[in-house]
Amino acid sequence: MSTLPIRIIVNGAQGKMGTLAVQTLSAHADFEVVGETTREDNLANIIKQRKASVVLDLTHADSVVKNIEIILDSGAHPVIGTSGLLQQHIEKLQKKSEILKIGGIIVPNFSMGAVLMMKYAQEIIHYFPTVEIIEMHHAQKTDSPSGTSIRTAELLAEARVAPPIQPPTSLETLKGARGAVYQDIPIHSIRLPGLVAHQQIIFGNTGETLMIQHNAIDRSCFMPGVVLACQKVMQLKTLICGLEKIL
Ligand SMILES: NC(=O)c1ccc[n+]([C@@H]2O[C@H](COP(=O)([O-])OP(=O)(O)OC[C@H]3O[C@@H](n4cnc5c(N)ncnc54)[C@H](OP(=O)(O)O)[C@@H]3O)[C@@H](O)[C@H]2O)c1
Repeated sequence: MSTLPIRIIVNGAQGKMGTLAVQTLSAHADFEVVGETTREDNLANIIKQRKASVVLDLTHADSVVKNIEIILDSGAHPVIGTSGLLQQHIEKLQKKSEILKIGGIIVPNFSMGAVLMMKYAQEIIHYFPTVEIIEMHHAQKTDSPSGTSIRTAELLAEARVAPPIQPPTSLETLKGARGAVYQDIPIHSIRLPGLVAHQQIIFGNTGETLMIQHNAIDRSCFMPGVVLACQKVMQLKTLICGLEKIL
């Protein structure tokens, strides 16, 4: 028995990630790309006109919350790769998804390497409670810190069983020298030409440090996760966060 392909819209289709996602999904038998939307389009109207079941959002941090609300209100399942969502946004959107009974997934990082980095970091923090994150991205990235670093800090804060060792002074002779702090974890953002997407998690303990580093050197590493999330979202009944939940 043949099943119909999933009718999917890629929002932010002309961006770096959007262009690659359109190519990948168009070449996959499970999907029919029925819309390639940009900021000029009326997303709600297009979802309804094209009878889309899934919308993959790869846009900007300044519009992602509104986009998710539009997608849920229009009756489609959101798959969100866009960065910039904080825990308070996610909780509010989860309530909306519960009321509307439409599942979706927020994926701060679609790559397998990044998922494994976060998984093992949650184990290390049991023994090394003091940690800092350095995330490095290409110079066109418009928001800081990255969605992956925020998600990493959240997971580490949840897993931590002892308080971090605090530095003896908080004096910054140059403001920002100690980075941004989220969930008690400093995050340092680097933006440079030549980079793609990289993250180091550095744990410190008496007389030793331990570092995990992930390097996305080509955006193709995100595509298997994009495909998986767009397939699995059809079965989700709530709005969940993290690719690890569907692996
Ligand atoms: N989850 C992951 O694994 C992962 C991996 C890489 C990147 N990302 C995230 O994915 C997002 C896109 O990354 P990118 O590198 O592709 O960025 P990009 O090249 O700047 O592409 C974003 C695209 O979205 C468009 N856009 C902005 N606001 C929009 C709106 N309200 N409606 C429709 N389209 C809109 C932009 O148009 P304009 O040019 O007109 O602004 C642009 O074409 C970023 O948030 C990035 O951090 C996530």
